[in-house]
Amino acid sequence: MRESVRFLLGDELVEITSCDPTRTVLDWLRLDRRRTGTKEGCAEGDCGACTIVVGRLDGGQLRYEAINACIRFLPTLDGCHVLTVEHLKAPDGTLHPVQQAMVDCHGSQCGFCTPGFVMSLFALWLNERAPSVQRIEDALAGNLCRCTGYEPIIAAAQRMYGAERERDRFVAGMPAIIAQLKALVDSETISIGDGACQFYAPATVGALAELVDTHPQATLVAGATDVSLWVTKGMRRLDPVIYLGRIDELRAISDEGSHLRLSAMANQIAVREALAGISPQLDEMMRRFGGEQVRNAGTIGGNIANGSPIGDLPPALIALGATLVLRKGGERRELPLEAFFLDYRKQDRQPGEFVEAVLVPKLPADALFHISKISKRFDEDISAVCGAFYLTLDQAGRISEARLAYGGMAGIPKRAKAAEAVLLGRSWDDAAVAAAITVLAGDFTPLTDMRASAGYRLKVAGSLLRRFLIETTAPETGTRVAGLLAEAAHG
Ligand SMILES: Cc1cc2nc3c(=O)[nH]c(=O)nc-3n(C[C@H](O)[C@H](O)[C@H](O)COP(=O)(O)OP(=O)(O)OC[C@H]3O[C@@H](n4cnc5c(N)ncnc54)[C@H](O)[C@@H]3O)c2cc1C
Ligand code: FES
Ligand code: FES
Repeated sequence: MRESVRFLLGDELVEITSCDPTRTVLDWLRLDRRRTGTKEGCAEGDCGACTIVVGRLDGGQLRYEAINACIRFLPTLDGCHVLTVEHLKAPDGTLHPVQQAMVDCHGSQCGFCTPGFVMSLFALWLNERAPSVQRIEDALAGNLCRCTGYEPIIAAAQRMYGAERERDRFVAGMPAIIAQLKALVDSETISIGDGACQFYAPATVGALAELVDTHPQATLVAGATDVSLWVTKGMRRLDPVIYLGRIDELRAISDEGSHLRLSAMANQIAVREALAGISPQLDEMMRRFGGEQVRNAGTIGGNIANGSPIGDLPPALIALGATLVLRKGGERRELPLEAFFLDYRKQDRQPGEFVEAVLVPKLPADALFHISKISKRFDEDISAVCGAFYLTLDQAGRISEARLAYGGMAGIPKRAKAAEAVLLGRSWDDAAVAAAITVLAGDFTPLTDMRASAGYRLKVAGSLLRRFLIETTAPETGTRVAGLLAEAAHG
């Protein structure tokens, strides 16, 4: 057991021996360290004013990520390299190329959002050499500016690459940081608290399994993009907390031949990369999952275990036929993902059990798949309705298998079983879709809430199914069905 948390703040080694498990990094920076360059706007991960850059070891390499300090818990920084806006200026006062580009392009007016934008751009600078405009927009989608407008900031993102990146002191300093972070790595479980609440962070899956079994009432924390809001908005005290983020094997993604195995702590960036080959729409949906800071922190395990009816991955994974791997102590059990969701915020998870991995079958050659996310804003918004669809056709072009999974239509992510039954044995055409739409109202009784009315949701659920047909059959958008039928005709 190690009773401290250690990380690098710039080039200073910080060691903390007493800490409220859910103290936010933002509060610690601003209140304890008086590093007030990092701003608090929303305190819920939406505005990006609190963006900092955190480096962590990933297979021996250093991976820098922009994250929201307002929704990250301080002890989860163990083993990381933390950089705030104050670190960027050189000791002689010279602005960093990212900052200088913002000045040159007039990328700031009132300035409140500016440190957050600078840090998101700085993460981009550290990781990428020549990002496209779309990539720059994606990297900035988690930052809001109410006065400058985004054009000058995007211009700054392009201009900053005019400087010599390889000679930058942060880029050149990476090998030294890697060596310092490696010296902090150990296999001890961290146990630290403030006398009232306790935080544990095991370093292996085995130690995690033991801890969760010993403390079945503990709150498991992965990326904390959901849990942190219970604290910052719900004012809850959590005790004890078990953090999953120190366990390398819990981030692993592997190709197992027939399926991909995505471990619970794989973040949304890694999950997007892994699933990109399945469908371009799935890739596009993941591009719109939160902002870059949320995708860096949020995990596949958290998105599932949270049990939200409007989480974006569950409908996709249910339609693809994914299997969940749950673990309690040394025992594992597997169940179809859809069976995990029992009722609103009620999942089939026993005390002491945790999500270890998700197994996602690869798409068979004769399958059609599509996913659409409908939300009020394009970027960084949770779905009002999400529809993910999977069909296989037999050699005569008749539907032999159908999985229509929706988010936002019920208290849980759920399949439209009646609509699926209507589709089976039919040709994949307008008549089939029209017949399926007539029974959708029997599959779901959606809610009216701030995101959408019940009537709108039902209408959209049908429209998404129609879109699936158009995307897979219309000559101008896709010749997938025609291709499959032609293949079948030729034996
Ligand atoms: C600004 C913002 C935008 C967002 N946008 C989206 C969006 O577009 N789409 C979307 O779907 N979600 C969105 N979310 C919600 C959230 O980011 C996701 O649900 C995310 O995947 C949660 O993962 P996490 O690792 O942060 O989970 P955490 O917050 O750490 O945990 C969530 C829940 O899962 C439990 N848990 C975590 N890991 C495990 C495990 N391995 N085993 C058992 N239980 C576990 C926790 O105890 C908790 O109950 C957004 C959130 C924010 C703040
Ligand atoms: S303060 Fe708005 S994202 Fe953190
Ligand atoms: S410069 Fe004022 S909010 Fe962006």
